[in-house]
Amino acid sequence: MSEKTNSENLRKNIRDSISNQKRKTVTVLSSLLAVQDKLHYIPDEAVEEISIHCKVTINDVWSVASFYTNFRFTPPGDKTLDVCWGPSCHINGAQNLINQAHEQLGIKGEGESDDNKVTLRYSTCLGACAQSPVFAIDHKMYGKLDEKKLNSMIEELKK
Ligand code: FES
Repeated sequence: MSEKTNSENLRKNIRDSISNQKRKTVTVLSSLLAVQDKLHYIPDEAVEEISIHCKVTINDVWSVASFYTNFRFTPPGDKTLDVCWGPSCHINGAQNLINQAHEQLGIKGEGESDDNKVTLRYSTCLGACAQSPVFAIDHKMYGKLDEKKLNSMIEELKK
């Protein structure tokens, strides 16, 4: 697919998610949320399309988008690995597992692996402390983790 077609498809996806919102009042914020729900990030094209749809300036859209830390502006990895470093997980060895995840993914903190297959995010508690240490892949929890289990989880993610 050509770059032009990709860009047209992206804009069509964005316009669809903005105009298909099932709410009475469509705002810049609701449109940003709709785009992020669909694409999992806010590309520059979305800022332009939202500004056109909501009849506001691009700066107005950026001021809302940049206020909320939940919006991301680069594409996430294909899968998301949430690693918990909350108190229960910490006590039960999460730090070693987090170090192992960094090493296996070749990254130093939160972010995407070089091949963009995995996004690693830190969590302060995944809500399953009794199962600590806990990590999650695309919101599916894996508890009572050890180095061996984590190793196979990450190797699977990298495929
Ligand atoms: S502290 Fe890790 S799940 Fe609660």
